[in-house]
Amino acid sequence: MKDIGLIGLGVMGRNLSLNIGNKGFSVAVFNMTSQKTKDFIENEVGKQDITGYYDIKSFVESLKKPRKILLMVKAGKPVDSVIEKLIPYLDEGDLIMDGGNTYYRDTTRRINELNEKKILYLGIGISGGEEGALNGPSLMPGGSKKAYDLVKDILIKIAAETESGPCCTYIGNDSAGHFVKMIHNGIEYGIMQAMSETYDILGKVLKLSADEIGDIFEKWNEGELNSFLMEISYKIMRHKDEETGKPTVELILDKAGQKGTGKWTVQTSIDMGIPAVSLNAALEGRVLSYFKEERLNLSKKVAKDYPKDLYDKDKIIGDLENSLLFSNLILFSQGLWVMSEGSKVNNFDIDISEVLKIWKGGCIIRSKMLDFMRAVIDEDKENVNLLNNKRVLEFLMTRLDSIKYITNIARNFYIPTLVHNSALDYFFSMIEGNLPANFIQAQRDFFGAHTYNRIDKGGIIFHTKWE
Ligand SMILES: NC(=O)c1ccc[n+]([C@@H]2O[C@H](COP(=O)([O-])OP(=O)(O)OC[C@H]3O[C@@H](n4cnc5c(N)ncnc54)[C@H](OP(=O)(O)O)[C@@H]3O)[C@@H](O)[C@H]2O)c1
Repeated sequence: MKDIGLIGLGVMGRNLSLNIGNKGFSVAVFNMTSQKTKDFIENEVGKQDITGYYDIKSFVESLKKPRKILLMVKAGKPVDSVIEKLIPYLDEGDLIMDGGNTYYRDTTRRINELNEKKILYLGIGISGGEEGALNGPSLMPGGSKKAYDLVKDILIKIAAETESGPCCTYIGNDSAGHFVKMIHNGIEYGIMQAMSETYDILGKVLKLSADEIGDIFEKWNEGELNSFLMEISYKIMRHKDEETGKPTVELILDKAGQKGTGKWTVQTSIDMGIPAVSLNAALEGRVLSYFKEERLNLSKKVAKDYPKDLYDKDKIIGDLENSLLFSNLILFSQGLWVMSEGSKVNNFDIDISEVLKIWKGGCIIRSKMLDFMRAVIDEDKENVNLLNNKRVLEFLMTRLDSIKYITNIARNFYIPTLVHNSALDYFFSMIEGNLPANFIQAQRDFFGAHTYNRIDKGGIIFHTKWE
């Protein structure tokens, strides 16, 4: 009998089943398209105890009870469809886990539906892509503790390891795991957009080649900007297209794709009323990139008057490094605020310090900065907004001149810097005691009698006859 079953032999499913097999567990695998199962068993499985099944019934019957089944199928309807096919063969106490990028509210619905049938369910956020799935991802399981305890040994063994321990922890109740993974991806969108803005400035202002940008990224990766995304970035910059010999990155069409997790993060932040302006800016950056035709047409209609002044290359590179650090910390602070509020609203009971710990290895946003934020959270677990911390404010203030300088240069060169600008504006908003919202209130009251409060007479609602 097999220790665990896995359904969905796409990129992630194949690598995860090999990872589980490599840790000494026996695995039953099933895929909707049978040929993929056959190819996987014949060509990729080696010494691991992994067996392919070609119908759901024999797949389920091959599993030790209580059965543990991990779904690695496309998020959305496919998950419901697979669950529906599994149910007739499952017993009370069996466990289904969804490791896909599922919208957390779908996970809540499935937990409730399966609870009625006494079938356990975990929504597991998995980060690390193809390589992480094989060698150790960051795992964010959420659901009942009873469900987690059933499978915890396997999850901990297959997760990445750092000096702080395994990159897997029980995230919290209900769909907490998928909620945290969603925010992870929202932050990921932000960091990628901020990095792409940096790349744009290095190329368009300093006229550096991809190789030269790669050298800068590699150097940054040895310092405070050390991260998985920085590491892959210098490798990307140096990669050459075999056919043309040109940097591959320069041959890629400038339209960024997305699968929904960034959008859900922003939608969630808006629903909860938490300002996540830079996460939103990053999402909009991808949306804007999609309008290639319009952009090209308009670019031909506008004469751009570029500055003739000579810029200090070393200063710009130094300030770019600082600006990226500033933007990244703002992106994390917005994401963690949404996470904290979501945890409260949904009773997820998420320990944010633990989340930062399991993001240290395996996942796409693993970075040196996580340790700093973790120390900040540990100082005051009630603090939902990192900006309230003295050391965070100091970190940002010491980089403020850099990001002001960089966003000005970008403007002079007509370079859009959505995340850098929004990070700066967010920071300015958060450190401003008097926003012009008084004027908005006056306008609202003028045209819609929406009323307002006064600064000198608290607790009373006012309306003015403006004309
Ligand atoms: N790729 C990543 O880096 C990454 C990272 C973290 C999480 N994820 C998430 O992990 C999940 C799997 O990702 P992937 O990249 O491995 O996807 P993938 O390569 O596109 O594979 C999708 C899998 O879903 C199956 N599937 C699709 N529709 C189905 C249906 N109606 N019924 C049953 N099975 C169905 C496919 O079966 P067939 O082969 O028969 O089509 C295939 O096994 C997704 O939710 C994804 O968002 C991906």
